[in-house]
Amino acid sequence: MTQNKTILVTGGAGFIGSHTVVALAEAGFRPVIIDDFSNSEQRVLAGLHQILGYEVPCYPKNCNDAATLRTIFQKENIQGVIHFAAFKAVGESMTEPLRYYHNNLGSLITLLEIQLEMGVPDLIFSSSCTVYGEPDTLPVDELAPVKPAISVYGNTKQIGEEILRDTVAAGKPLKIISLRYFNPIGAHPTGCIGELPLGVPGNLVPYITQTAAGLREQLTVFGDDYPTPDGTCIRDYIHVMDLAEAHVAALQALQNRAGQQHYDVFNVGTGQGVSVLDLVRSFEAILGQPLNYRIGPRRPGDVTAVYADATKIKQELGWTARRGLREALEDAWRWEQQLASK
Ligand code: WQD
Repeated sequence: MTQNKTILVTGGAGFIGSHTVVALAEAGFRPVIIDDFSNSEQRVLAGLHQILGYEVPCYPKNCNDAATLRTIFQKENIQGVIHFAAFKAVGESMTEPLRYYHNNLGSLITLLEIQLEMGVPDLIFSSSCTVYGEPDTLPVDELAPVKPAISVYGNTKQIGEEILRDTVAAGKPLKIISLRYFNPIGAHPTGCIGELPLGVPGNLVPYITQTAAGLREQLTVFGDDYPTPDGTCIRDYIHVMDLAEAHVAALQALQNRAGQQHYDVFNVGTGQGVSVLDLVRSFEAILGQPLNYRIGPRRPGDVTAVYADATKIKQELGWTARRGLREALEDAWRWEQQLASK
């Protein structure tokens, strides 16, 4: 039974975190947010209020703060955790490695220590397909080897998974699922929450919607000389609401699981590979006019192609993506237009 179980969502004011707060509430959980707002803004809480009809409790703090975490667990009677809180800018991670290791791994370790102290075993960890690097075979499944990380950010995800695996293997009473995300895109269909435009977008879809909205002059496609059908990179673009619902399915699996210990890993993707130009064309069909873009040089660190074998999560957790690329792009565009109207 999930009725009103209180779940702590770290980084819950972020892009994926905020959408997962909605999915949790819709599934009968009571979400509570801790977020230091280093990569989000208070207006996300207003958007959540509009969607849910009530104010989600939020603690504006960093997860490295053990005393605050302890207080939240006691005061809110936390019965499970979904851990998103992390710095995630790939490029920035290469120039500020210590800040990334301290924040991303320090927060995870502090959270685990508090969960053990408070006797709260259930944790969903936000991991990433970036751990696969350039997969040897596609679609990539969970048995594929984890490749040496090419970014500090990606390394924090790999080391994070190892910390979780080793802690459970040491016999600690924790039940953990790591979810390896592919490329989250889109926004809640109400247009009340979405990917906040903080600085110049590094990711493809927000750059596209900002170009269409006239906030950016032109999209640069980073290379069309890759060994793919149209020469551009291939990714697995998953609607952020599908991704949010995968977290709920994983949490429910843990809450319904007997025993004191568990660790497992699942890909969360659609299983469909889509090229950059495929995505641009899909967006142009929604926009009803050409998008202003040019072909530029490759971006260092980009893999040619990565998309999910999502069989395991379907078979074991009963989850599968239900929203398509077009719906995700329509929702992303609605969010961009809503931002422009403010
Ligand atoms: C997608 C494709 C670019 C921008 C990143 C992180 C990953 C995860 C998801 C956190 C690539 C191309 C992009 C642009 C372009 N984040 N592109 N012009 O790099 O696949 O994954 O976000 O977990 O860890 O690495 O996503 O959206 O940046 O790029 O041509 O202006 O779009 O080259 O092929 P990526 P992305």
